[in-house]
Amino acid sequence: MPGAAETPLCAIRWGGDHLRLLDQRCLPHDERWLVLPDWRAVAGAITDMVVRGAPAIGIAAAYGMALAVQRGAPRAAAQAGLLASRPTAVNLRAVLGRIAALPDDAVLAAAHAELAADLARNRALGAAGLPLLRRDLAERPGILTICNTGALATGGHGTALGMVRSAHAAGLPLHVWALETRPYLQGARLTAWECLHDGIPATLITDGMAAALLARGTVGACLIGCDRVARNGDTANKIGSLGIAVLCRHYGVPVYVAMPTDTLDRGCPDGAAIPIEERSADELRCIGGQPIAPAEMPVWNPAFDVTPAALISAWVTERGVWRLPFPAG
Ligand code: MRU
Repeated sequence: MPGAAETPLCAIRWGGDHLRLLDQRCLPHDERWLVLPDWRAVAGAITDMVVRGAPAIGIAAAYGMALAVQRGAPRAAAQAGLLASRPTAVNLRAVLGRIAALPDDAVLAAAHAELAADLARNRALGAAGLPLLRRDLAERPGILTICNTGALATGGHGTALGMVRSAHAAGLPLHVWALETRPYLQGARLTAWECLHDGIPATLITDGMAAALLARGTVGACLIGCDRVARNGDTANKIGSLGIAVLCRHYGVPVYVAMPTDTLDRGCPDGAAIPIEERSADELRCIGGQPIAPAEMPVWNPAFDVTPAALISAWVTERGVWRLPFPAG
């Protein structure tokens, strides 16, 4: 297990002339740090899921730009390459946009600032969500969550899992039900690892068990993260989020989106305009490199789905709890 519990867990470290990333493909069994010497290696690491989670992708890209400046690489090419590394998470575009406006000698400091700001945002978001959880978990202490939205997916603390972390630290009785999150298993590998790391009570279930769990009436809230939120509140998040939001509506469980305001795409009118990444067929045909389906079987592998705003109870941001319509400006 990494670090002491009081040091924020963080999978991104600046090395002076390189970026170090905790290779999330190898967790939980192997804690391996990769050394990335230039922006191309950072872009490759984002595409290959060494680093994943919308905020963490943005921070890694910021350091990719710092490496481009250090190595004297053309900034426009680095920016375009990093921007193309994963299409759905809008944080990448937001961070790269802020950095594009800066002179060379300010880029590294800006990358450090992005990391620090993300951690601060997540802690504020966790505090903002606490009253909701205090109310909703009073009689039903279960929290349903999907994918990994914790420290590994951010600059530290996490968003949806950060709300859990804050509530747990505040002494709220709670129990996380972590969906394994096929096909990439971010829930089974990463959320499980983080909950054990912080001593947060948690149980792992397969994605197909969500309905049976909700039918038992012990879940008080569903917390999900987001990769892009449209102006009308439609929310793109890990594939499977839409399914659990539909189930939660049936069983009367509120769905909260933990949304750093960086993940709001003001230029995007609704969910239909959100680009959805499709990933390789082998992510479905294999688990841990072991084939489980016929090699020639056609596969559809969208990495995200869009939950309509109508199924979402509130968006918890670092600026407070938002409901529709979102605050102007
Ligand atoms: O494909 P991933 O692992 O990058 O997907 C991550 C998610 O869907 C998260 O819920 C989202 O990025 C928010 S992370 C704080």
